[in-house]
Amino acid sequence: MTANNRIVLSSDHHGLQLRQAIAAHIAAQGWVAVDIGPTTRESTDYPRQGEAAGRLVASGDCRFGVILCGTGQGIMMAANKVKGIRCGVCADTFSARMIRRHNDANMLSMGVRVVGEGLALDIVDAFLTARFEGGRHAARVAMIGTLEG
Ligand code: RB5
Repeated sequence: MTANNRIVLSSDHHGLQLRQAIAAHIAAQGWVAVDIGPTTRESTDYPRQGEAAGRLVASGDCRFGVILCGTGQGIMMAANKVKGIRCGVCADTFSARMIRRHNDANMLSMGVRVVGEGLALDIVDAFLTARFEGGRHAARVAMIGTLEG
């Protein structure tokens, strides 16, 4: 585990239950779950939740972020607008491993209407246990950074 063991969790109104399951799952592995809500099922704007989570990761306050909305797509788009964020939507464990290994992703997004809880927890595990491979991938990740304003 890295020195910073904080993972920010965020979602829109679709994600409350799965977010709580992820929080318990990662806490059992020694991670600190920084859950920034929402705490009710009242309609919530995913761009605000994605941005807030992205800022906590980009600032270094949290090592990783796991974010959820209905499809995982909208909140991912918002998070990726924060400088320094590399977030991918995953609905399978292979992609979750690869966005860490090749893309050095620092955030994972999932669709609550796409994946069930069991698969979502496996995807989280695949993401958190994979390591960035560096080398030729580091140069490409740096190229992504040059696209940021
Ligand atoms: C909200 O209904 C829905 O649009 C949102 O959860 C997400 O799927 C957007 O990408």
